[in-house]
Amino acid sequence: MSREFVVLAGTANPELAAAVAADLGLLPGACAIERFPDGEISVQLQESVRRKEVFLIQPLSPPVNDHLVELLALADACRRAAAARITAVVPYLGYARSDKRHRRREPITGRMVADVLETVGIDHLVTVDLHAPQIEGFFRIPVDTLTAVPRLATFLREELPQGVVVVAPDVGALRMATDYAHRLNGTVAVLHKRRDSATGTHVTHLVGDVGGKTCLIVDDMISTGGTIASAIEALLKAGARQELTIAATHGLLLAGARQKLAQDAVKTIAITDTVFQPIRDWPQLQSISIAPVIAGALKRFLEHRSLSDLYRGD
Ligand code: R5P
Repeated sequence: MSREFVVLAGTANPELAAAVAADLGLLPGACAIERFPDGEISVQLQESVRRKEVFLIQPLSPPVNDHLVELLALADACRRAAAARITAVVPYLGYARSDKRHRRREPITGRMVADVLETVGIDHLVTVDLHAPQIEGFFRIPVDTLTAVPRLATFLREELPQGVVVVAPDVGALRMATDYAHRLNGTVAVLHKRRDSATGTHVTHLVGDVGGKTCLIVDDMISTGGTIASAIEALLKAGARQELTIAATHGLLLAGARQKLAQDAVKTIAITDTVFQPIRDWPQLQSISIAPVIAGALKRFLEHRSLSDLYRGD
């Protein structure tokens, strides 16, 4: 890796940024991020980025608006300080679920976020397991969507018996479920989910045979836990074995999610550290680091190499 580069961390997940930087053989660059008394964000780079490649690491986890403005401010500071190129590494892209208008007179906030990221001078976006692949189309800059599936599948291979049924809790998760099933030598089932409100969902149909089977429920994210809780209820009602495993790339696990998912029938919940996870006292919750995948991608960028082998994974 001959090119000069720097890794800068926002405040959303400094541990992940430090792990990525360590994998690349350096420490995150020095920058001060503070709040003014009125809540505005103050950023100052404390080392030169002139003519350097900059990797800004900041998931858009809650508080999403603060983390977004911080990322924009960091990018603006880098551009004004004459960085050669700015790559935003946003392992969890907030607002991605707002990718279309559900009702009239609504915004498409995912598109709006794409526009502001480009406006501040971000040249390249790296993210992980986007909510829907077509969100890449909101951007005109290159977008590399990495995936946690190979890493999580490697972990789960040790946990799960042969013949697992990988369950998509809604049609949107079907592609991911198929990928897991392929890697774990399992079959696929899908639930049809109806959303009653921003926080409430219920399952109306199950397609697939889960009776007496070991099931793995997979999704891109767990937010309130409502989707997975509805899936658990539907699977147990359909006679699945009382030994469920859950895998999701982004473990937001907002207040109340733990109460919904801490059930006797749930053996393991595997997530990654795309967002910072403060829960450390829940034995069923296993966090697998995404840092090697991100660092692997950044190394390949610096060496002008393809990412194809990274997608294939283990
Ligand atoms: C929705 O389509 C997503 O893929 C997730 O299933 C959903 O956002 C998870 O949210 P929650 O945990 O609040 O149900």
